[in-house]
Amino acid sequence: MKIKSVRCVCFSPTGTTKTIAESIAQGISPEFIEMIDITKRSQRNSQPLLGEDDIVILATPVYYGRVPEEILPYLTSLKATQTPVVLVAVYGNRAFEDALKELHDIAVDAEFIPAAGGAFVAEHSYSSKTYPIAPNRPDESDIRKAQEFGAAIRKKLQNVESSGHLTAITIPGQSPYIEPVNLNMIKEARSFVAVTPETDASKCTLCGQCAEVCPTGAISPEDVTQTDRWQCLICFACVKICPEEARQMNEPNFQSAIQTLQQNCQDRKEPELFLYK
Ligand SMILES: Cc1cc2nc3c(=O)[nH]c(=O)nc-3n(C[C@H](O)[C@H](O)[C@H](O)COP(=O)(O)O)c2cc1C
Repeated sequence: MKIKSVRCVCFSPTGTTKTIAESIAQGISPEFIEMIDITKRSQRNSQPLLGEDDIVILATPVYYGRVPEEILPYLTSLKATQTPVVLVAVYGNRAFEDALKELHDIAVDAEFIPAAGGAFVAEHSYSSKTYPIAPNRPDESDIRKAQEFGAAIRKKLQNVESSGHLTAITIPGQSPYIEPVNLNMIKEARSFVAVTPETDASKCTLCGQCAEVCPTGAISPEDVTQTDRWQCLICFACVKICPEEARQMNEPNFQSAIQTLQQNCQDRKEPELFLYK
């Protein structure tokens, strides 16, 4: 198969998934790379146009062991015509559980042909100076592995006449998929408490970067101290971008959950790749 273009369809509130997807794309080294960033709701209005010699990278962070609920309507509306796809789940050094399998199943339903899959590790969205979880990942080694993975995908594709001849990959995971227990708990708790990062007005300079980066428009651009708790994904894009460290999660149960998460996720995990020749 020829590979002219790689189209990366990518949801990435804090940017690590995008970095991994770009590195894989570089490794595939096509003539043309298109980044289709679907992080914001406003970016999910149109379908990617797929040509004959295209390959797609579908890349998402792992949320609660699953594909983020937020992008399911978009992903399940995708339509391919036996287009080869690389499935990428990026997780914060805890576990990827059923996320990659779920992404695989969505891709198959959309008539993509899964050519490869990878679960990569990145700094956890909730990592901080006080509670570091996989800080500064993806690091050099992760990036090199992502690029080498891309190069191996290129070889696999070049060795077949058409996508129909690709060796199918299987992805581990259970069916039905794991229940996102913490998400369900957060949804319930929201009727009583604001489980969302808040602005410390004494530190905030009203620069507006938090509202700008929010995937769902949960932070009011007119008054960035106001966050709509029902729209917030708790993705921490606002926390990570704030130059004054004015955005913080104050909810005590959430804070202690981060502390426990940090204690349990210290051992370095490595990317897991599913390719077959
Ligand atoms: C709501 C939410 C749920 C998450 N759930 C998991 C998880 O189940 N396992 C894990 O290892 N990391 C989890 N993470 C961490 C992210 O998967 C990880 O930090 C990822 O690199 C974020 O991608 P991004 O930089 O593209 O936003 C979660 C992060 C958030 C915000």
